[in-house]
Amino acid sequence: MSIDEFLALARTRRSCRKFKPDPIPDEWVEKILEAGRWAMSGANGQPWEFIVIRDQKTKDRIAELLLEDHRRTFQLERTRVEELRQPMFRRPATELPPLRTAPVIIAVVGDRRTLQASVLYSRFIFAEGGPGAAYFKNMANATQLMCIAAAALGLGAQWSSVSSGWEGSLKTLLDVPEELAIPTLVPIGYRDSKAAPPYRRKLSEIVHQERYDRSRFRTGEDIYNFLLHLRRRTREAYAEVQGAKSEIRSTKS
Ligand SMILES: Cc1cc2nc3c(=O)[nH]c(=O)nc-3n(C[C@H](O)[C@H](O)[C@H](O)COP(=O)(O)O)c2cc1C
Repeated sequence: MSIDEFLALARTRRSCRKFKPDPIPDEWVEKILEAGRWAMSGANGQPWEFIVIRDQKTKDRIAELLLEDHRRTFQLERTRVEELRQPMFRRPATELPPLRTAPVIIAVVGDRRTLQASVLYSRFIFAEGGPGAAYFKNMANATQLMCIAAAALGLGAQWSSVSSGWEGSLKTLLDVPEELAIPTLVPIGYRDSKAAPPYRRKLSEIVHQERYDRSRFRTGEDIYNFLLHLRRRTREAYAEVQGAKSEIRSTKS
């Protein structure tokens, strides 16, 4: 693969929030899992294991757990100003994309005990990002590689976060041992929508040469405007699954 092909893949991979129910070949699922297996991890600790879920009843139950969590946290998100509120929290959801319809969900299971692979002081005492942060970074690497592998196969995939509000119920459903965690679910399948390219900051805004260029340091107001801009774009991304295009147009400035 050339660098240009690789960059094209990096640029065109999109989070998918609407799937066709059509099954995907088992060999493709295997290839996606193989990509996850080769992810980087601190001291090669490899905290990840994967549960491949195809059973419709299980997917339905997972979708219900996410919805129940949404209902529990709904009022909390509404404490934000409306313009910064996550689109799925603008009104109580009756359905959340896309865990029910994707033909396959990969539950990314993690084992924090593997952090012991690395030097003790760097993991627990002076850990970058606090104790345990390396575990999440390792899990993220495997998740990202699987999403990229899905894109290379022409499939859609989504990084679907599992909050502590419903992780326990999910672990019970999937019979995951106490010691392990499920930070992320990755639904995978054929796209049933064409996602517009999301906004990315320009290289000229994020790259510094030799030293940090403080003239480009963003103020609090810059960050607020950035978040506002992002939120408008998030609404566009969610419109494909909510059928809320007219509402989005009316909130755009
Ligand atoms: C840590 C993390 C958590 C995420 N959680 C969710 C999620 O719960 N639901 C969702 O729809 N997308 C989730 N995403 C996907 C992001 O929203 C998405 O990557 C971002 O908007 C950029 O769009 P793109 O993936 O199409 O480039 C998550 C991504 C990351 C890295």
